[in-house]
Amino acid sequence: MEKNQLQLFADSNLSETKNINICEKYDQNERVIFCNDDVFNVIKEIPDRSVKLIITSPPYNIGKEYENSTNLTDYLNLQEKLIEELVRILQEDGSLCWQVGNYVKKGELFPLDLYFYPIFKDKFNLKLRNRIIWYFGHGLHTSKRFSGRYETVLWFTKSDNYTFNLDPVRIPAKYPGKRHYKGAKKGQISGNPQGKNPADIWEIMAQEWETGLMDIPNVKSNHCEKTDHPCQFPIELIERFVLALTDENEIIFDPFAGVASSLIAGIKHNRKVIGTEKEEKYYLIAKQRILDYSQGILKIRPLGKQVYQPTGKEKIVQIPEEWK
Ligand SMILES: C[S@@+](CC[C@H](N)C(=O)[O-])C[C@H]1O[C@@H](n2cnc3c(N)ncnc32)[C@H](O)[C@@H]1O
Repeated sequence: MEKNQLQLFADSNLSETKNINICEKYDQNERVIFCNDDVFNVIKEIPDRSVKLIITSPPYNIGKEYENSTNLTDYLNLQEKLIEELVRILQEDGSLCWQVGNYVKKGELFPLDLYFYPIFKDKFNLKLRNRIIWYFGHGLHTSKRFSGRYETVLWFTKSDNYTFNLDPVRIPAKYPGKRHYKGAKKGQISGNPQGKNPADIWEIMAQEWETGLMDIPNVKSNHCEKTDHPCQFPIELIERFVLALTDENEIIFDPFAGVASSLIAGIKHNRKVIGTEKEEKYYLIAKQRILDYSQGILKIRPLGKQVYQPTGKEKIVQIPEEWK
């Protein structure tokens, strides 16, 4: 197999394989474009209104910004220049999903989505469809405020005419047997046999349990997808957006691709993908992950996998003898 020639196994049919090429420069005829470059160098090559979904987690490289508000301003000004370009390449019926957390400095919290929202809305007239909160049940415990357990994704569209495929992302209903109890539909089942709308609070990667039963939240040390990247996306988080906001063969772009979680989510569902990552060490891990995926050996937490619920018999959920 040549360096960039990968065997792609379509998830739905493992016996069907095809060769794909990771193209390292923008080329509108390619399905997988992944550039080890600064996004500002690459984005100018991407044509106007050509991308259906932009999904990313921007760097928070605002290091000491909150000691000095000018630095935060500089950071946001730079992001705004990029956002202008992102809006240019976004299709009229396309979506932009911006995932950020809370930046914490000396115990003070700065919710980054609040800083970004006015840029998207006031400067570029994008329309917010959801502010999705995804949360995880595990992490550092703080002592002078409540422990932080969520991040947000701002989902914007460019117009009122946008793709939203609900059926592929429905989740099992809690009470599938529920019926209308009054009115014309009294007695009829009220839900949808394909499941319910997952709503805007997602606990999709909340807990994995190892021997010794430790819960594993976002992509941290014990998650099956973890790499050396400090803040990678869980692939299943992106899959839900890919399925809901795009159709097959449409283009997904992650300008800050890291270890290619968004690209893998897109490839997995037969979308075309473009990514840029400027750090070579992450780029190399990312390429290896795509290769592993193509060979069927990349561990991915399955989309929609139920969150583990302890039965109560596990040692770790019992009150320790010392506390009794
Ligand atoms: C928050 S991380 C994104 C991680 C990614 N979502 C994943 O799942 O791996 C931001 C990434 O953007 C990269 N980055 C920062 N500035 C960049 C730029 N100007 N062009 C391209 N990549 C950049 C960083 O190296 C980092 O890997």
